[in-house]
Amino acid sequence: MEIDEFLALVKRRRSIRKFKPDPIPDEYVERILEAGRWAMSGANGQPWEFVVVKDQATKDKLGDALDEEMKLAAAIESSRVKEMRQPQMRDIPDVIPGSEWKNAPVVIALCADPRTAQASVLSRLFDDRWIIPENMGHVAQIIHLAAAACGLGSQWVTVSRLPEELIKPILGVPTILRILSLVPIGYPAYQPKPTFRRELREIVHYERYDMSRARSNEDVQEFIRSLREHSRPAYPIYKQADSSLRE
Ligand SMILES: Cc1cc2nc3c(=O)[nH]c(=O)nc-3n(C[C@H](O)[C@H](O)[C@H](O)COP(=O)(O)O)c2cc1C
Repeated sequence: MEIDEFLALVKRRRSIRKFKPDPIPDEYVERILEAGRWAMSGANGQPWEFVVVKDQATKDKLGDALDEEMKLAAAIESSRVKEMRQPQMRDIPDVIPGSEWKNAPVVIALCADPRTAQASVLSRLFDDRWIIPENMGHVAQIIHLAAAACGLGSQWVTVSRLPEELIKPILGVPTILRILSLVPIGYPAYQPKPTFRRELREIVHYERYDMSRARSNEDVQEFIRSLREHSRPAYPIYKQADSSLRE
């Protein structure tokens, strides 16, 4: 694959938050996970294991577990001014977002084994971070790109501590393992709106960090405000909540 082809794939991959229920070929799932297997990891510890879920009753239970967390997040988000809230939380308490991904034909739970930190003595100098976000981020990224390469959509559903404890017994995952995220995969039920990224000239520094471009706290807050304006229409849920976005 040439770099231009790779760039096109990277740009084509988008977070999809609602899926057609149509099944996807098992071969796609296998190849997506085969790609993930080749992710880089610290000292090649390979902490990942995957649980592939197709059963609708199980996916509903996973969705319910995530919705529990969403209620908590909505309560916390309601203390922030509207323009700083995550887009799907803008209209709480009138609209509390739910797990729209539940009907995706496949949901993959990305699990991590913290014991693989023993692959390097240096890992003892770091915290949990080394295994969970740093290593698992790589396998997740490859899985999302591989799904896009198959012409499928995918979503990163973060699993924080509360849903993690609810999900482990649902999937029979051993308590020693961690669950980083759920990845629903399927054919997109909508066309995502264009997304936004900071320009290269804003984020790249040559030889030394160019302090004339360093952002103040206010700049970052302003950035988040403008980000919300850019990203808001990307969430399909707003079609229900905000008539101005109806097509
Ligand atoms: C660490 C991380 C956590 C994320 N958590 C969620 C999540 O819980 N739910 C969700 O819908 N998207 C989640 N996302 C997806 C981001 O919102 C998304 O990548 C970002 O808005 C850019 O949009 P794009 O993926 O369409 O380019 C997460 C992404 C990352 C890397």
